[in-house]
Amino acid sequence: MKSSFNCLFLLLLCFLHCVASSTVRQRDALNKFYFNNGVGTPSSSTSSSSSSSWASSLLSVSGLKSKVYDNSGLKEGDKVVRLPGQPEGVNFNLYAGYVTVDRANRRALFYYFVEAVENSKSKPIVLWLNGGPGCSSLGYGAMEELGPFGVMSDGKTLYRNPYAWNEVANVLFLESPAGVGFSYSYTTSNYAKSGDRRTATDVLVFLVNWFERFPEYKGRDFFITGESYAGHYIGNAVINKETDSKGAFDYFWTHALIADETIRAIHKFCNFSPDARRTAPKCDSALDEASLAVEELDVYNIYAPLCFSSGVTPTPKSPSIENFDPCTSNYVEAYLNNLEVQKALHANITKLNYTWSSCSQVIPSWSDQSSTMLPIIHELLSNGIRVLKYCGDIDGVVPVTSTRYSLKKLKLKVKAPWRAWMLNSEVGGYTVMYDHNLTFATVRGAGHEVPCYQPARALEMIKNFLQGLHLPSI
Ligand SMILES: *[C@@H]1O[C@H](CO)[C@@H](O)[C@H](O)[C@H]1NC(C)=O
Ligand SMILES: *[C@@H]1O[C@H](CO)[C@@H](O)[C@H](O)[C@H]1NC(C)=O
Ligand SMILES: *[C@@H]1O[C@H](CO)[C@@H](O)[C@H](O)[C@H]1NC(C)=O
Repeated sequence: MKSSFNCLFLLLLCFLHCVASSTVRQRDALNKFYFNNGVGTPSSSTSSSSSSSWASSLLSVSGLKSKVYDNSGLKEGDKVVRLPGQPEGVNFNLYAGYVTVDRANRRALFYYFVEAVENSKSKPIVLWLNGGPGCSSLGYGAMEELGPFGVMSDGKTLYRNPYAWNEVANVLFLESPAGVGFSYSYTTSNYAKSGDRRTATDVLVFLVNWFERFPEYKGRDFFITGESYAGHYIGNAVINKETDSKGAFDYFWTHALIADETIRAIHKFCNFSPDARRTAPKCDSALDEASLAVEELDVYNIYAPLCFSSGVTPTPKSPSIENFDPCTSNYVEAYLNNLEVQKALHANITKLNYTWSSCSQVIPSWSDQSSTMLPIIHELLSNGIRVLKYCGDIDGVVPVTSTRYSLKKLKLKVKAPWRAWMLNSEVGGYTVMYDHNLTFATVRGAGHEVPCYQPARALEMIKNFLQGLHLPSI
């Protein structure tokens, strides 16, 4: 789906991270966010200190109380004892399994939870969601981007990722919605009802039940992070259809990918506004020229090498953390389709009649999709939730240009001006801080999936953000 959803991606935006502030506890902020959104009236104010009343007030406002299931005793069964092919010296706990989000339809979401290597009891929880819509956070996020293990080219052996985000947090990867990866619905007609709203609701029900299963994490600082389209489910992407499209073509021209005549025609004849009735034929042909010009590129990273082989290699090549292997998804697909691996992960217990794939093959359509997320980001910020929006600067799918146009639409005042941020005496990217705690950061030399291409910079960025610190300037 990653490639067939190209145009959808173009309408959307980069990478975004939404987060708790250190002063306002995230649970209170989220609570307030839901109430202010007119979901309902809180049964008690956010002053309640017990975590279970947090959960129930959230549920009563959303009318979802009936979906808090008994999760007691399920955590132990989810503990992953050993993954096939894992390296020696694993020094953190790993859990994986299903959380039911709709008992009547037997809809269950699959998660993969890696505890922090040190002091997991005091570190925050980071929820990671991939986009698509319909792509797997286990396949991309956990196995290719920021998880503790990567898969070697034999599709059987794992290696340790030294820049995994569980160096700084407890990280929860969720395959969402049902129909993605190992997540499923017994009522398969549910798949055709997939959309932004259903996905967001299921994620909420998942979380409340997950916290019932892992009660020691209730009340911990909680951060929602994700990539690309995931901003739609977590309600915090700065996504705006119009500026995202315009920004993408401007990026193509400023990066010498399309002709002067093409960008001139796009500026003259194309109207990307959501109320534009129909497109002019001269716009269509300019857009065709543009897609033809970038056709042979991996637009997700305009400078990346391509993958020219399929499947796996008989013996594992030694992996290079610094040079991301463009064939990685083949190795991950082989690994996750291994029935021994599935058993170790407590996955596919219902014996699904299709194979695991990185993006869903069973979700036929996407029912609802907002054309802009700008009002939501305003809402989050005014509720005291810290937001970081980050973007790889060589991503051509949701490029920095689009994000900057969208940010401009928010009309926020600059609090700390644009500057370089540094890691190991080199520029890691650029950053600017706006009023209300919105930070924008670029990651230099990163494509769409930032941690694949710049793992050290990505870790530095999230580490500082989780601690509420500015990115380092020297
Ligand atoms: C898989 O199972 C579902 C529901 O049981 C059914 O509708 C579908 O046709 C099956 N697909 C294949 C390829 O057998
Ligand atoms: C689930 O397991 C069955 C075998 O029991 C296998 O054929 C199928 O590919 C698996 N599906 C997924 C999504 O893992
Ligand atoms: C921004 O975050 C800081 C530190 O977490 C906090 O003290 C401040 O009140 C926040 N500002 C707004 C406008 O939310």
